[in-house]
Amino acid sequence: MDTFAFIIHPIDPKRDVSRKFPLLGRVLNERQIDFFSTFFPPIYISEIEGITSSATGKQVKGWFVAAPYTPRRMLELPERVVYRKIVQTGRMAERLGAQMLGLGAFTSVIGDAGVTIARSLDVPVTTGDAYTISIAVQAICEAARFMDIPLCNAMAAVVGASGTIGRVCAELLAEDVARLYLIGRREEPLVDLREQLPGPGRCELVPSTKMDVLSESQLILTVTSSIHDVIKPEHLLPGSVVCDVARPRDVSAMVAAARDDILVIDGGMVDVPGPVDFHFNFGFPPGKSYACMAETIALALEGRFEDYTLGKHVTRERVDEITAIAEKHGFRLSGFRSFEREVTLQHIETVRQNARKRARHT
Ligand SMILES: NC(=O)c1ccc[n+]([C@@H]2O[C@H](COP(=O)([O-])OP(=O)(O)OC[C@H]3O[C@@H](n4cnc5c(N)ncnc54)[C@H](OP(=O)(O)O)[C@@H]3O)[C@@H](O)[C@H]2O)c1
Repeated sequence: MDTFAFIIHPIDPKRDVSRKFPLLGRVLNERQIDFFSTFFPPIYISEIEGITSSATGKQVKGWFVAAPYTPRRMLELPERVVYRKIVQTGRMAERLGAQMLGLGAFTSVIGDAGVTIARSLDVPVTTGDAYTISIAVQAICEAARFMDIPLCNAMAAVVGASGTIGRVCAELLAEDVARLYLIGRREEPLVDLREQLPGPGRCELVPSTKMDVLSESQLILTVTSSIHDVIKPEHLLPGSVVCDVARPRDVSAMVAAARDDILVIDGGMVDVPGPVDFHFNFGFPPGKSYACMAETIALALEGRFEDYTLGKHVTRERVDEITAIAEKHGFRLSGFRSFEREVTLQHIETVRQNARKRARHT
């Protein structure tokens, strides 16, 4: 049977460490977990079984392995130290027999987005960013439909627009919406992005380093590499949709508490074909995975054992190709989730009603 492995790491330190080591998660605080993670070796998490292509019936099996660094630790430590730990984790995957290796969350963000890691390993590597882009854009367009926001007139924003995932999401959204804010911390790469995007098109492209412009945006796709939340309740327009692809999240938990007139959805949740059992709870309902995991699995089902999405410049062609491969084998955009909970049609209707009420009172 063909095989794959996927590298995960703690994102919310206490919650995620508790999932594998309940006692350590209880007794250590976040700072202690950050500190001790430096000395932890790579950790075997679980075997993944039951994945079956709906096109060919081919089955693959895989493993979760963990690089025990938190996002904060990965940003604080020298890049070469972080690479070393990720490569050690990749070596564990090789010893298990993996033929394809996916880099989860910050292991794909750090440094040159997988290029150095792939060079140091024998197993082919992918970041999963191409299918993450595809699913994030599908998710926000689908959510717009549920909220009755016509794309062709929509004011939209991509936060983290100059990043690896953000720039291609911006390119795709610019084909459909009326105005697109390109938001980030530094103006120069945003202005460069505006120049590089195909045009002049119907869509007005507006670079901005100010979160205030979110108050004019009906659709927001956010995908920064910030380790703190960047989108707060006061930034948002009643009735808007926010698709949060970032891990750790970009949207403050305060939004869920204070703004019942906004639809916040997690970007990147996918249905996996076959009776999959991950033997590990990474926070999704059974049978669902992150899009970046799905890219790794889809490549294994397709038998494409080669370095795939690597580096900071992902192409549209790569996004289209992996979308076709994943859809062929039965991966699909899953239902919506928001802050670890399922989004029901009733919830969407309540958001719409609350947005109308709020608009009447402002
Ligand atoms: N859901 C999934 O399946 C999935 C899959 C893969 C990755 N991800 C997540 O996606 C996120 C982005 O990944 P990436 O590879 O695109 O990262 P990246 O290439 O490093 O890009 C991140 C972007 O965020 C911007 N940024 C960082 N901090 C910011 C802040 N405080 N305010 C505004 N902008 C900020 C950066 O701008 P500067 O240029 O100014 O630094 C950069 O443009 C990460 O959180 C990652 O974990 C999710």
